[in-house]
Amino acid sequence: MKNIYRFNYNSIQELEKEIKALDLAIPVSTDLDVLAEQIVLSNGVVIPNRLAVHPMEGCDSREDGSPGQLTERRYLRYAEGGAGLIWLEAVAVNQRGRANNQQLFLHRDNYHLFADLTDLIRERAKKKETDFRPYLVLQLTHSGRFGQNKTILFNENTLDQAAGVRGDHPLITDRELEELEGDYVEAARLAKAAGFDAIDLKSCHGYFLSEMLAAHTRDGKYGGDYLNRTRFIKNVFRQIKAEVKIDLAIRLNIFDGIEFPYGWGTDRNGGIDWTEPKRLVQELAQLGVTIFNVTASTPYLKPHLSRPYDQPGVYGYPAPEHPLFGVNRLLNLARVIQGEIKDSIVVGTGYSWLREFSPYIAAGVLRAGWAKIIGFGREAFAYPDFADDILFNRGLKAKRVCITCSKCTELKAAQKNTGCVVRDPAIYLKFYQELLEERG
Ligand SMILES: Cc1cc2nc3c(=O)[nH]c(=O)nc-3n(C[C@H](O)[C@H](O)[C@H](O)COP(=O)(O)O)c2cc1C
Ligand code: SF4
Repeated sequence: MKNIYRFNYNSIQELEKEIKALDLAIPVSTDLDVLAEQIVLSNGVVIPNRLAVHPMEGCDSREDGSPGQLTERRYLRYAEGGAGLIWLEAVAVNQRGRANNQQLFLHRDNYHLFADLTDLIRERAKKKETDFRPYLVLQLTHSGRFGQNKTILFNENTLDQAAGVRGDHPLITDRELEELEGDYVEAARLAKAAGFDAIDLKSCHGYFLSEMLAAHTRDGKYGGDYLNRTRFIKNVFRQIKAEVKIDLAIRLNIFDGIEFPYGWGTDRNGGIDWTEPKRLVQELAQLGVTIFNVTASTPYLKPHLSRPYDQPGVYGYPAPEHPLFGVNRLLNLARVIQGEIKDSIVVGTGYSWLREFSPYIAAGVLRAGWAKIIGFGREAFAYPDFADDILFNRGLKAKRVCITCSKCTELKAAQKNTGCVVRDPAIYLKFYQELLEERG
């Protein structure tokens, strides 16, 4: 599949020229000092710098959901890499909510193994600098219609087809949803016991809680109007706040890019409707949620909106717009949301496509007040020590950056161990070759 847009800039000045030519107003700063600033939270906990590893599923858990060898390898590389915040990937709150049997799953019988992982991460981070302590967020998830049990809140043709769900597939009941609230609270308790600083109720990319925000056509107490569609997330945060002493975070779609009434934050033409996302972030901030990691869309239908790329991979399509428009859209989601909740921490998304010039945009965004932390997804797979190179080694090396080829996405879609095929071939090339052979 050919793409007409390719990253092709030799300097930040060339990239800035393109930004101008496209009539975009993306902030740039070549003074990177701001990225090294720490954040002290109201409870005294410190996030040691402004760079974060985004949650990125590695499809490498053990059968019972506990971290596997490659899981440990990935997180120890991040621990050594110097990012101040490591947002651990989607971890299922129950077996039915698992995307597949390689997805992490936290439960009573294995939380001690997650505790071993947080201990190892902290030890490894300390080795590089005795008082370096990355802030650890655990993303709690239910994969909903994209899980192995295909749990759905409503039917819609395109979404059903994308998930392989039949039109007569039964909807989850309100009673089952009440029980599921309890599974999230229990998982937060276990996350606390395992040593995480915060939990995230994953509410993005079309997975379960993301679908719930868009359940306009569902009857009952979890569908229809705004209060019903946000009930679950608020109930669970309230209960965790009351019963578990752990910081609260959310990875939140600001818009799905799926037309109303089947998408959240989206109008009838597929454009952004800010009304409900703005209201929700304000209400969540009042409930005690402190960190908001903003993102958009669903990779199953509109990946160009959630992760701008050069190459779509076999499951994708050539980018229908210059990826800088995608980057600009994601940056502006953070800008608007940070403007709504000035005291909270907004984590920005959309930086990997910018490759070795991403630190200059990251610094520009922080200086402009568009976000307080900058997250890196695919870049973390490709270049796990990106933070150290940005902060201490005068920037990212062009030969090591993610080239947005989508091969890691192909691995994940095929439920194979997932990582960077291009920059970490000793581990991941063989899995990709297997995939090519299976495809024939
Ligand atoms: C292979 C793969 C796995 C991902 N896993 C998760 C995940 O577990 N949770 C999540 O919220 N986002 C996940 N994402 C989305 C990323 O966190 C991020 O939003 C996206 O890649 C865009 O950021 P980037 O341009 O820095 O890569 C995943 C993306 C990829 C490509
Ligand atoms: S395989 Fe590597 S280079 Fe390609 S998109 Fe994924 S992280 Fe980037």
